[in-house]
Amino acid sequence: MGLRGDNKEEKAGGERLKLLEGRRILLGITGGIAVYKAVLLLRELRKLGAQVRVLMTPFSTQFVGGLTFETLSGNKVFVDWSKDPLAHINLARWAEVFLIAPCTVNTLSKIALGMGDNLLTTTVLAYKGPLLLAPAANTVMYKNPAVQENLKKLRERGTVVIEPEFGLLACEEEGEGKLAGEGRIVDWILWSLHPKPLEGKKVLITCGATREYIDPVRFISNDSSGEMGFSLARTARWLGAEVKVIAGFTTAEEPPEVEVIRVVSTEDMLKETLKAFEEADIVVMNAAVADFRPKIRSDRKIKKGKALTLELEKNPDILEELGRRKRGQFLVGFALESENLLQNAREKLRRKNLDLIVANPVDVMGSSHHRGYLVREDSVEDFEFESKLESALHIMNRIAELHLKR
Ligand SMILES: Cc1cc2nc3c(=O)[nH]c(=O)nc-3n(C[C@H](O)[C@H](O)[C@H](O)COP(=O)(O)O)c2cc1C
Repeated sequence: MGLRGDNKEEKAGGERLKLLEGRRILLGITGGIAVYKAVLLLRELRKLGAQVRVLMTPFSTQFVGGLTFETLSGNKVFVDWSKDPLAHINLARWAEVFLIAPCTVNTLSKIALGMGDNLLTTTVLAYKGPLLLAPAANTVMYKNPAVQENLKKLRERGTVVIEPEFGLLACEEEGEGKLAGEGRIVDWILWSLHPKPLEGKKVLITCGATREYIDPVRFISNDSSGEMGFSLARTARWLGAEVKVIAGFTTAEEPPEVEVIRVVSTEDMLKETLKAFEEADIVVMNAAVADFRPKIRSDRKIKKGKALTLELEKNPDILEELGRRKRGQFLVGFALESENLLQNAREKLRRKNLDLIVANPVDVMGSSHHRGYLVREDSVEDFEFESKLESALHIMNRIAELHLKR
């Protein structure tokens, strides 16, 4: 599924996915103009099921008052020690993730120096878990060499810096410094909450539909959305992998923080896949490629006539080619079948020299549940989830286990 433009994490039936159910997130807020965006971010985290406690710097309360955050989080907002003399210890112990968004250049620099001059910076000192900073500032302030040095220090210590985006800033200038979008921030939270069995592994994923042009405006293709492939990419990143996606045409939202290389035809996809294949540890071929292409592609738009006969020729079989070249890579294919699903899947597994095949019955298309089978030479496991994202996470976890066992 991937993140939509409006950041709705949904089940197949349209209901909200509780990806952060019960997770304890400490949301730090500092005094930048982007504080109003933290209000929407808090709403989003709550909708995803998270418990959120808000910790504000004194200066940030001048931008949006604590009452807004208190109401939306359902918890007291902390600004100083007046509510609890051990607030810095208790909040640090409570949190599973500490996200500061927006994070001013002032606060990030103080954190880099190990200062504790207010409740927020003191809580950072008392906290041992994953720390995520989402800076937002005027471009010149953000690019200031002292700030950049402090960011470098923080990254070296393992702090996640969620890079700001390029855009029109509140100072009416265009540049880098806009607070990262909600989708990216949520994805980093999910990243920080997952174990990293794929740390140091390179995962290559193909997805979407390839197109074979008949003339400059017409083509043969299919309606693959790319949702499953993008979900696999997102979840592989959560599990620590370095992910590269080679995508044909897609309608699903691209996964955040993942390299996506775009291709048009099956032949282009083969070329790009072969370039990345040698270096990959795990290769998941989820693209719906066009098996045939027109023998002749017209340079001009074909005129309307009574009838048109197209001669098609076979495209290269990418999966089979990879199966032939495989040297240690864990190779995963997909099969969508209307009959003899398991038998056909196992036959494809052998013929294409795969390590695992994900077999889906055709009836999963348009259904509110996503189900299928993980087929190997000597075993079959079934799975069923309410969304493709959850299925993707299950599949990637199983791939990680099977790959590491080899
Ligand atoms: C209207 C206004 C907007 C500001 N916006 C930002 C900003 O977007 N990013 C930033 O790093 N600092 C910004 N500042 C400067 C910080 O507020 C200032 O450095 C302050 O000391 C930050 O305190 P804090 O980090 O404790 O919240 C802004 C200041 C004002 C008055």
